[in-house]
Amino acid sequence: MLDNASKAFFHLLARSSTLKKIASRYGMRSPTSFARRFIAGETVEEAIVAARQVEAAGLMQTLDFLGESVSTLAEADAATRDYLRVIDAVIQAGIGRNLSLKLTQLGLDVDRASAVDNLRRILERAEDFFVRLDMESSHYTETTLAIFETLWQQNYRNIGVVLQADLHRTEQDVERIVALGARIRLVKGAYREPASVAFPSKADVDAAYAQLMKRLLRDGTYPAIATHDEAMIHEAQRFATEQHISKERFEFQMLYGIRRDLQASLVSQGYRVRVYIPFGHQWFPYFMRRLGERPANVGFVLRGIADEAR
Ligand code: FDA
Repeated sequence: MLDNASKAFFHLLARSSTLKKIASRYGMRSPTSFARRFIAGETVEEAIVAARQVEAAGLMQTLDFLGESVSTLAEADAATRDYLRVIDAVIQAGIGRNLSLKLTQLGLDVDRASAVDNLRRILERAEDFFVRLDMESSHYTETTLAIFETLWQQNYRNIGVVLQADLHRTEQDVERIVALGARIRLVKGAYREPASVAFPSKADVDAAYAQLMKRLLRDGTYPAIATHDEAMIHEAQRFATEQHISKERFEFQMLYGIRRDLQASLVSQGYRVRVYIPFGHQWFPYFMRRLGERPANVGFVLRGIADEAR
């Protein structure tokens, strides 16, 4: 319950324009500013520096050019063109070719067909990339999966999707995507959801996560176990060993700036670990979701604001 309350609280704060103004003013302005703990920077060059550091430490990466919920086709087109530039920059830099993006960033709220066209433009340029469709709130789950399935049937095979263990529907969605043979990133779920669609208690979300994770480890196609929850990670390791599932058949994923110790420790044990590296000017909603997951982060942000203001 506390978790839902905290998500709800930060969801509310995320809509405050005053807070956004303060955060935008102080959050990223120097290399030590508070938002930089979670966001690699505002430019693709900064993201590439972060990606190189991550890869030098033996980890893999996926880049997320932040943005969501655009409200005009012009913005969706601009976001698409930004992504095309990111693709060129990644190729030029010679780093791993892996992207994460959101359909509302490409115009899903404005016009579904245009969002799909924009996604196709990206997929065509990113032919030898892997492109993950992030999952947004439950309002978008069915549409995102339907678009994913259409593209899959049209033979776009360099794509994967995200499923959220907190939703009641996810057990069926896992079966649906496993049947395609497509890759799933399993997460707990970062959005505030009503009890009619999601488990309100963290214990239930954790139990669902553990169960779905095992289903994917056993029968999924190269699943991504995306969590910082040590107990869950230990359970994945234990289960994989018990079932003779080799370390190459799945990967762990974590967010930039969170549990770097755990990321390094998994790599040293021979596991594949990918870091999700967000960057761009539109970092505020992403940043607020990270605070909502762990309210203790607020203290560190407030100290950061006080330091910067001084
Ligand atoms: P849990 O919340 O139980 O946290 C376990 C431990 O991790 C905490 O005790 C703490 O130590 C640490 N931790 C977790 N969050 C932290 C934070 N913000 N700051 C500091 N420490 C923290 N969600 C979604 O809805 N759609 C998506 O597409 C994605 N994509 C995605 C990609 C990747 C690579 C990851 C790792 C996560 C996502 N998520 C996501 C977010 C996900 O749904 C979830 O909100 C967060 O991962 C937090 O949940 P945990 O699984 O880490 O567990």
